[in-house]
Amino acid sequence: MIVNRPARIRATIRVPSDKSISHRALILNSIASGKATVESLLESDDVRSTAACLVAMGARIDWPEDSGTAVIDGLGLHGLFEPGDVLNCGNSGTTMRILTGLLAGNQFLSVLSGDDSLRQRPMARVIRPMREMGATIFARTGDTLAPIVIKGGGIRGMTYESPVASAQVKSAVLMAGLFAEGETVVVEPAATRDHTELMLKAMGADIDRTGNSVTLTPPGRLAALGMRVPGDISSAAPWLVLGACHPDAEIRIENVNINPTRTGILDVLHAMHANVELGEQRMVGGEPAADIVVRSSSLQATRVGGDLIPRAIDELPLLALLGACAEGETVVADAAELRVKESDRIETMATALRPMGLQVVERPDGFSVQGRVPLAGHRIDARGDHRMGMLAAVAGALASGETQIENDAVTVSYPGFWQDLARAASGDATFAR
Ligand code: S3P
Repeated sequence: MIVNRPARIRATIRVPSDKSISHRALILNSIASGKATVESLLESDDVRSTAACLVAMGARIDWPEDSGTAVIDGLGLHGLFEPGDVLNCGNSGTTMRILTGLLAGNQFLSVLSGDDSLRQRPMARVIRPMREMGATIFARTGDTLAPIVIKGGGIRGMTYESPVASAQVKSAVLMAGLFAEGETVVVEPAATRDHTELMLKAMGADIDRTGNSVTLTPPGRLAALGMRVPGDISSAAPWLVLGACHPDAEIRIENVNINPTRTGILDVLHAMHANVELGEQRMVGGEPAADIVVRSSSLQATRVGGDLIPRAIDELPLLALLGACAEGETVVADAAELRVKESDRIETMATALRPMGLQVVERPDGFSVQGRVPLAGHRIDARGDHRMGMLAAVAGALASGETQIENDAVTVSYPGFWQDLARAASGDATFAR
């Protein structure tokens, strides 16, 4: 793709539906009792990977392409059967980690694998607790990397103190906990997205949070849950950053999920004095949602770390661009998790943006960026990491000259991204090569 800076940006954007909620809606409804209609399910590569894995185990998911609506006829908690082949999770860490929990609860043998990126991502974080709960589970390279081989069943509830703040780990343990004898408790070092808990509760499970600890009593059955999936704040984030940094912009983003476990980016924008307004809050699919308007802003640098990090984890690389536009030095700390995402997002970001003029210092757990530094177009390799592809696009739309982007992979979470960017920039910002 080629991106040039548009002179002016005026747009209303309806971002795609939330990826995290879409995965969970498919997985939990597949093992619920009854039929659920899920509207506005995210039609992206990652969510299709989850659906395909579930269908390979007998799940009844009717999700015609481009329909936006899936009808899932639940099999009940014990209705899945042994897949005839390796389950391919594609590029999706959420698919692999949450299904590891689900499969630990099922007595059959299964193997989970994925693409080159996913087979390099840390899996010991889900393998260890599954083994402690009673599953027989192995993986490549000393039980750390996929493929993962699981022979589930015989699961006992436990209290798991997770060393990482990860919603995927928490969700994997809770999934296994659905099949356990006795209660399962997950204690997190910092609160992470709680979509699994909200959905399980809405399906009738006895699940409660106190502080950073979540307790699940095995439910016996889950009731099918029809819903409409709200828009994804992680897909709204590139627009929020573009709108705040561009000198002549006004972007309205409709129907964005503003679950407080996801709104770290809004807190950061607020701390940086960005011109961001939230419309009236409503409930969509059991989650809060609102329209957000962002306008050109005079930004101040900020420092982020601690509990905010998991609430903004997928948006943090975009702070490099906010920082470049702001007055002062912007610092991100406590975010070593960025190094084990679809790519090493600290290194990919710094390598991509440094040749454009960004003054960035990489740290093991984050980065710092000097403000008020103009960017100039360059060639960027997004390394098949969708969030890096969108970061590169926003960088290109803020830079002078032409930016060429390779391996953008945006279809993983946001298939219509380039069309939306072209529209936002009245057609003059991007064109396909
Ligand atoms: C996700 C959790 C986060 C996030 C990922 C989606 C989820 O990962 O980065 O994009 O849906 O649970 P971690 O749980 O590894 O932090």
